[in-house]
Amino acid sequence: MIDTQNLLSVCGLKKYFPLPKKNIFSKQRQYLRAVDGIDLDIRRGETFALVGESGCGKSTLGRTILQLYRPTEGKVYYYGDSEEQGVELTACDEKKMRDLRKDLQIVFQDPYSSLNPRMTVGQLVGEGVTTHKFFRRGSPKLKAYILETMKKCGLQEYAINRYPHQFSGGQRQRVCIARALALKPKFIVCDECVSALDVSIQSQILNLLSELKEREGLTYLFISHDLSVVRHIADRVAVMYLGRIVERADGERLFSQPRHPYTVSLLSAAPSLQGKKEKIILQGNMPSPVFPPEGCPFHTRCFMAQEVCKRIPAPLQETEKGHFVACHFAHIPASEKRKLALGAKGLDR
Ligand SMILES: Nc1ncnc2c1ncn2[C@@H]1O[C@H](COP(=O)(O)OP(=O)(O)OP(=O)(O)O)[C@@H](O)[C@H]1O
Ligand SMILES: [Mg+2]
Repeated sequence: MIDTQNLLSVCGLKKYFPLPKKNIFSKQRQYLRAVDGIDLDIRRGETFALVGESGCGKSTLGRTILQLYRPTEGKVYYYGDSEEQGVELTACDEKKMRDLRKDLQIVFQDPYSSLNPRMTVGQLVGEGVTTHKFFRRGSPKLKAYILETMKKCGLQEYAINRYPHQFSGGQRQRVCIARALALKPKFIVCDECVSALDVSIQSQILNLLSELKEREGLTYLFISHDLSVVRHIADRVAVMYLGRIVERADGERLFSQPRHPYTVSLLSAAPSLQGKKEKIILQGNMPSPVFPPEGCPFHTRCFMAQEVCKRIPAPLQETEKGHFVACHFAHIPASEKRKLALGAKGLDR
């Protein structure tokens, strides 16, 4: 049972990256709008998944929530303890963020590049623990704590004196998870953390994450482009397109009754979820986040786009309890949309 209280609230979050000026005379600087106005709440104890194609801004959103990137606009609140008023992370200075950092961890896709190859597993798992002064360096309690954390993550004792390159990808990802877990975090951003692994290893790591979530009371923001993985693990799902959320719902509902044409097309491209249904092929590529389209950001590729979509952005609106959709035609069911999409295939648009 999920506690409905929020652990994090994200309000109007934007992250724009300035582009280098073309020449010294150009007056206006251009910006890449990686995250372009996002509102969401992450509930205590849930796995909140973020899906969308490459470059839509998933990682940037994860990092901006953690203040690894400072936002261009908007706020993030963190409710560490349920009684607390909440901390506005976006207003915290670096020192305060360093203290909070132990609560808010991130695990990346590539465990090779995120682990220092010259440190042993023991040093890697213990590094943050000594930085945050849980234990003194060299104390026997520290070693026992490292071993206990490793064990929780399925790493055997002998691994403590070995180096990352001596392990397989799955084992290295266990080290990354142990490193985060050692700090007793409340929230972990898992950024494509199983995407580089073989399918059989993926499920082992996913099982580990679920087990740790229950046992340690964790909350995850689970970033992935792989819908079959997300279906397996997510309580709620948000679909991102061009820096915005276009649909958000409970996992089960999103997969069974998608309402945004983009979600419908994404799901049709995941054969394991859709059986033998025909795949919807979208026209063109994602537009540049430097010049996002007017109106609905998806209209340039949408098989349902009408005049209104070109001019007026569709706000994210609740169509049914807990199901939010940003589409002027949200009321049309997925089956109808699918028919339209497949019928429209090949039309010159
Ligand atoms: N540090 C940065 N400086 C400038 N532009 C950036 C930076 N990081 C990301 N971007 C741009 O922001 C957009 C969103 O990138 P992001 O990495 O967040 O996407 P993503 O959804 O995580 O993609 P992927 O699935 O490939 O990991 C992209 O256009 C990317 O080129
Ligand atoms: Mg990414």
